[in-house]
Amino acid sequence: MGSHLVIFEPAEKEVEVPTGTLVSEAARLLKIEISQPCGGQGRCGRCLVSVKKGTLRRRSTLRLTSEDIEKGFALACQSVIEGDVTIFVPPQEQIERRLSTDRVAAEIEVPGWYYYDISQSIKRYRLTLSAPSLDDQRDDLSRLRTALKKQYNLSNLIISQSLLKKIGRKLREKDWEVTLVVSDVDLPYEDRSAVQLIDVIPGHILDFEPLWGIAVDVGTTTVTLWLVDLRSGEVKIQISEYNQQISRGEDVISRIIYSSKDQGLEELQNLVIQTVNTLIETACERMGIYELKPIDIVKACISGNSTMIHLLLGIPAQNIRFMPFVTTVNDVPPLLAHEIGLNISPDGIVDCLPGVASYLGSDITAGVYSSGLDETQKVTLFMDVGTNGEIVLGSRDWLVGCACSAGPALKEPVLSMECEQPMGQLRRCGSVMKRMNPISGSLVAASRLGYVGVV
Ligand code: FES
Repeated sequence: MGSHLVIFEPAEKEVEVPTGTLVSEAARLLKIEISQPCGGQGRCGRCLVSVKKGTLRRRSTLRLTSEDIEKGFALACQSVIEGDVTIFVPPQEQIERRLSTDRVAAEIEVPGWYYYDISQSIKRYRLTLSAPSLDDQRDDLSRLRTALKKQYNLSNLIISQSLLKKIGRKLREKDWEVTLVVSDVDLPYEDRSAVQLIDVIPGHILDFEPLWGIAVDVGTTTVTLWLVDLRSGEVKIQISEYNQQISRGEDVISRIIYSSKDQGLEELQNLVIQTVNTLIETACERMGIYELKPIDIVKACISGNSTMIHLLLGIPAQNIRFMPFVTTVNDVPPLLAHEIGLNISPDGIVDCLPGVASYLGSDITAGVYSSGLDETQKVTLFMDVGTNGEIVLGSRDWLVGCACSAGPALKEPVLSMECEQPMGQLRRCGSVMKRMNPISGSLVAASRLGYVGVV
């Protein structure tokens, strides 16, 4: 097996790859963007490139006419490099549709039941510590723990290694006066609770000053972010952006297939994290006078279909696609922002709302909860028609849900070539009544997240 020189135009970039490498793979090595809406299955025909010099072996020509082949066109995801070759990559299709989902924050009402003191798990505590001396040589962390216990009766403080590195400086910066930002934590399998330290801010922050959180809905097509002042419950900004994963597949099945490829999962995770981080930066910029920085955001609440949540967290999603269609996790335990690369306070809490099953994700539990469907007397239908469609029918006594691929089912490539697959997706229909009860269902989302979870 030899290696071959591949030159990409018009970028004028080249790479040496072994025999058998796909054109899409060679392009990826050079960070050349080739859109792969069907996830590289050879179905959509939209990863078209043309051969300028040399030859490629076309594994599939399903989406090419004989005229295309004569002119040197090939599908990047289906063409194998077996010799030196020069490939032209036409400008990738730009998504020109303007998102119309940005709304002014004033349109979003604060829920009547939101009270910071009882609804929110993130709290701030002002502490004044005694300074160390030759008579009192306790270490900084013990000093912090003792003050927290004494002044607020809180024990079991959990602190990350990254914060441990900073507390020595932060405690001394304002003469042992600090404000702690902490989150309640229920320790699994232990009959006690704890508080996770999120940040140590030198000096005393006054109660009326905002405490920032975000709610994020990760859709297959669109990602929407709400910036919220957790103290007042007010939504300050709502913005949306296309999920950058679109170029690697338009529906969840294509994304799962793409994620199964070499480094596909990592790539898809990076793309969606980049989308969310861009939204965070834009939201902060729009806050103008507050001079808000992403690092000031201490909590992120995330909903999305089960595949999107898996890909966001870098969890393999293949099992969602195959019988018996199980996820790795429906109710993700709280994570820290730096663990998944979210650009907020590094120890900020990332809380994913609980989903129900492979195709009834946390976007649906959040929707059912916030619409009040689980409290109605009359039988009511809840519909979420996105790229993936889900419906939930029921009342306060029972709930039934099902899901299918909605958007792609209406598109020409799927209808003409792949009718079987979307129909196969219409399989998840079962009672979710038990899972929707206040213990494990949508109400958990609300109690855990306070306001942000149901924005
Ligand atoms: S045909 Fe190559 S990505 Fe769809």
